[in-house]
Amino acid sequence: MTTIALLTGASGGLGHALAAELRREGWTVILVGRDLERLRAAHGSDAPCIETDVSTPEGARVAVAQCQRAIGLPTALAHCAGTTLLAPLHRTTPELYRNCLTANLDSAFFMLGAFVDALREARQPGAAVVVSSVVARIGVANHEAIAAAKAGVEGLVRSAAATYAPARIRINAVAPGIMDTPAVARIIGNEVSRAGAARQYPLPGIGDPADLARLMAWLLSDRAGWITGQVWAMDGGFSSIRPLVR
Ligand SMILES: NC(=O)c1ccc[n+]([C@@H]2O[C@H](COP(=O)([O-])OP(=O)(O)OC[C@H]3O[C@@H](n4cnc5c(N)ncnc54)[C@H](OP(=O)(O)O)[C@@H]3O)[C@@H](O)[C@H]2O)c1
Repeated sequence: MTTIALLTGASGGLGHALAAELRREGWTVILVGRDLERLRAAHGSDAPCIETDVSTPEGARVAVAQCQRAIGLPTALAHCAGTTLLAPLHRTTPELYRNCLTANLDSAFFMLGAFVDALREARQPGAAVVVSSVVARIGVANHEAIAAAKAGVEGLVRSAAATYAPARIRINAVAPGIMDTPAVARIIGNEVSRAGAARQYPLPGIGDPADLARLMAWLLSDRAGWITGQVWAMDGGFSSIRPLVR
């Protein structure tokens, strides 16, 4: 049986790592992004790509429909499209807020909806994993908009996992702390700020997208076949432990 995985946000740092991991696990990976050139620059000109904006309902449906037409029904969805936003509430303009919600929450809502519709129509089981953030679970200063968006993503995941469990469609989320990708290049761009960011974590350091990619690939595999509705933190302990202060 062909196992087809649809990967959004594929031109980004996590998308790049996850495409490689899924291919290693035997998946045929279809890369989705808003710009074909960016996708090809990241993955080579032969990689199967779909250019569409999954933050709209039409764009999300295009991603699934083109995949079905060109290769077949995707039975896995890895939704990596999203942004980060470091800004306090009083400096978050309505436009920044709207863009943050669109990129992170709208995209997850519409993409998951399109994926589930296709599986239900084909009466096939499947699995999805979407990307939240450490800031959804614990209050981190200056992250109000992204915290709201990702908390929405986690609520979406739990409810959808409940709705579609009888159809054997599993839906989970991962919640990373800061990871070394282009999204945070400005935050960890020099040695001083990088070291400062790393010190915030109980296990000091900056996350490696390859580590998160392995967790996501596992969640999509049959090895995680009885796991749904969960949020898996990969954050050096940030959201759940308080180290002893000496
Ligand atoms: N890096 C971190 O520290 C960190 C921490 C916590 C959570 N995350 C989450 O991890 C996921 C992956 O991020 P990354 O670190 O790989 O960042 P990245 O390198 O900037 O990649 C993000 C991807 O999302 C797509 N995207 C951005 N805005 C979009 C929009 N409005 N609509 C549709 N697609 C959009 C972009 O693709 P195109 O522009 O090519 O379409 C890009 O490929 C995101 O959900 C992010 O929120 C990252």
